[in-house]
Amino acid sequence: MKNGLPDDTTVKAALTLAGRAPSVHNIQPWRWRIADHSVHLYLDRRRALPATDPDHRDIVISCGAALHHLAVAMTAMGWAPVIHRVPDPADPDHLAAVTLIPHRPTPVDIELSKSISRRRTDRRHYTSWSIPAGYLGLFAERAAALGAVVRRIDDREPVRAAARVASGIHAGDEAYRFELAMWSGRHGSVDGVPARNTPAPRPADDLPARMFAGAEFSDPTSQPDHADLLVIGTSADDQVSRLRAGEAISSVLLTATGIGLATCLLTEPLEISAQRTKIREQVLHGSAFPQAMLRVGWAPTSPGKPPETPRRPLTELLVRDDEALGSPPQ
Ligand SMILES: Cc1cc2nc3c(=O)[nH]c(=O)nc-3n(C[C@H](O)[C@H](O)[C@H](O)COP(=O)(O)O)c2cc1C
Repeated sequence: MKNGLPDDTTVKAALTLAGRAPSVHNIQPWRWRIADHSVHLYLDRRRALPATDPDHRDIVISCGAALHHLAVAMTAMGWAPVIHRVPDPADPDHLAAVTLIPHRPTPVDIELSKSISRRRTDRRHYTSWSIPAGYLGLFAERAAALGAVVRRIDDREPVRAAARVASGIHAGDEAYRFELAMWSGRHGSVDGVPARNTPAPRPADDLPARMFAGAEFSDPTSQPDHADLLVIGTSADDQVSRLRAGEAISSVLLTATGIGLATCLLTEPLEISAQRTKIREQVLHGSAFPQAMLRVGWAPTSPGKPPETPRRPLTELLVRDDEALGSPPQ
């Protein structure tokens, strides 16, 4: 970048941290273009999951999480982002244009940024220690600043019912099972869900977890899961709302990590349209569109924290000038 804006090394360091964002099946469906005065985020539809995520909700949420990770990384490096979401109505895959202005990082900025490399999706059972109400309030406050609501789900029955139906539909859907088998049970790849990060299926679980292939993560916890369950929702259900939901999810995940809480996203029930509608009506009482759910809680103190999951190299994610992906921005 030029003209008093961050140098290339800083931008690439921030983009590398942005790439640590969570994504559905760890597909990392984002591309970046570094222009003279801005950084641009694009949705990479070639990495879509048509059977799992037919309306592309999860992949846009994933990009929203990467956008927020970029904002957090840049802020900690002394650059405040000004984000223009979906700047070109003719190109809905051009998700954001980010310009940067000098900023003095605060201790909170630095803390949030440190959480990027410490965060993991933790699929273990969580302990019965409760989460102080103030922490849940902080999640709600930070998500609201990004345009999303976070609610704790006290009556889980509608979610349990939706999760059972969704996992039954998916179990009978060959295309879904093929996609999941392709993207999980991985060893030594730069994307997908590694076998070493997924515990074996626990059929007695209250909320059925996604049935990733080749589970190799040993969870010594024998007690039932005591996670709190949160839902993240938005007032509309368009591209910008999904992007914002991803940003808010990232903010909640990084905040929770900073506190020492474990987290695990859970979206399978929302991938089936009729079940998403039920959760909207029965859990959010029609007040918001559910975008994702999240287990949050205190992980067991026994060793066995999930390892870091792999990421694609930044060179694969940068849009080259000669690539036909959106119009070249300034
Ligand atoms: C939109 C979205 C949906 C996800 N859905 C699930 C899910 O249903 N079950 C699950 O165990 N993990 C889910 N994840 C977590 C991803 O599998 C995880 O982020 C990815 O494997 C990378 O691992 P990491 O979060 O430890 O970096 C989801 C993540 C995102 C962003």
